[in-house]
Amino acid sequence: MSTVDLPLLPLGRGRDLESERGVECPGDLPSPSDPDLVARARAAKEALGERVFVLGHHYQRDEVIEFADVTGDSFKLARDAAARPEAEFIVFCGVHFMAESADILTGEHQQVVLPDLAAGCSMADMARLAQVEDAWDALEAAGVADSVVPVTYMNSSADIKAFVGRHDGTVCTSSNAETALEWAFGQKPDAKVLFLPDQHLGRNTAVLQMGFSLDECVVWNPHLPDGGLTREELAGARMILWRGHCSVHGRFSPAVVDELRATIPGVQILVHPECVHEVVLKADLVGSTEFIIKTIEAAPAGTSWAIGTELNLVKRLAAAHPDKRIAFLDKNVCYCSTMNRIDLPHFVWAMESLVAGTVANRIEVDPDTTHWARVALQRMLDLPGRSHRD
Ligand code: 13P
Ligand code: SF4
Repeated sequence: MSTVDLPLLPLGRGRDLESERGVECPGDLPSPSDPDLVARARAAKEALGERVFVLGHHYQRDEVIEFADVTGDSFKLARDAAARPEAEFIVFCGVHFMAESADILTGEHQQVVLPDLAAGCSMADMARLAQVEDAWDALEAAGVADSVVPVTYMNSSADIKAFVGRHDGTVCTSSNAETALEWAFGQKPDAKVLFLPDQHLGRNTAVLQMGFSLDECVVWNPHLPDGGLTREELAGARMILWRGHCSVHGRFSPAVVDELRATIPGVQILVHPECVHEVVLKADLVGSTEFIIKTIEAAPAGTSWAIGTELNLVKRLAAAHPDKRIAFLDKNVCYCSTMNRIDLPHFVWAMESLVAGTVANRIEVDPDTTHWARVALQRMLDLPGRSHRD
């Protein structure tokens, strides 16, 4: 038997820079055990003053959220970034696609920094531009492309957003997916939507909020010829769902919902729409991270909740609401590992680099991609109102 020499490529400084682009931190990354990290972060933030604006997604660690000027879901953070033209630097504590969106929506004089470039998103990586272009060619060959309106979830790379912009589509987030789909279906008679890259958000919104049947939703598998679909299946579909998912939310299971209902009297199940359809069907309430937070804030003392979203947020909600019983929806689901890459050492390193005059880990989207992605993002920002699940 022959053996293949497989290199072990742990993530970290100086490893496999070809495939793990950006894991290198030029300069000194502070040690996580440095007792002065908090003081260093405070000092750097103070030194930069109004020149820096720090955004923190709800799934970030407490130690990082502590330093965020604003927190929010991906929709709110995109808007907040766009509303701060006076800040020279936007330090984005979130993941790569969010920092790209911030770069697209901010002015040319502003620079966006992602404290660890290895903070990607496995869902966003499930739709690559070449795959989406192949899918579009196949839809054209099947004679359906003319009626297809592409809609991409915010959790996608800038080049996918640009593709959608070029093809008269829009971006959506978990808090406005219903409004975005209503817009898309209103664009053409007999419109079909190609929904990228999260099949679960697409299916949950189409079926539970828009009244489509499961049969009207087909799944496009980018690893199969013609997405694994026949012409008849494509012709009959209203929603063509890209075969992508969130590796965190996809792990919550309907069995645990049943278990918790049996063990916690009166528990209400509150989940994010990235969860699988079977979990969402069993939940009491479904909505974006902003919706989850507002629901818990408004809940009466003494109520019991089991929440299906990222663990950093659920733990923070439990700590902030000791008068309510807040459980995590699963024993086996853990943090989003890429969100967690932004830790205090990386934050301090990025901030101190700015103080020293170096813009480290800048996220810069090329001008053509920026133009078309902005077209798609602007269509989203122009959508009427926000959904009740905001
Ligand atoms: P929202 O921030 O839109 O709720 O999305 C959740 C998520 O998974 C972000 O990565
Ligand atoms: Fe991506 Fe899921 Fe992590 Fe959000 S929680 S960044 S969708 S892997």
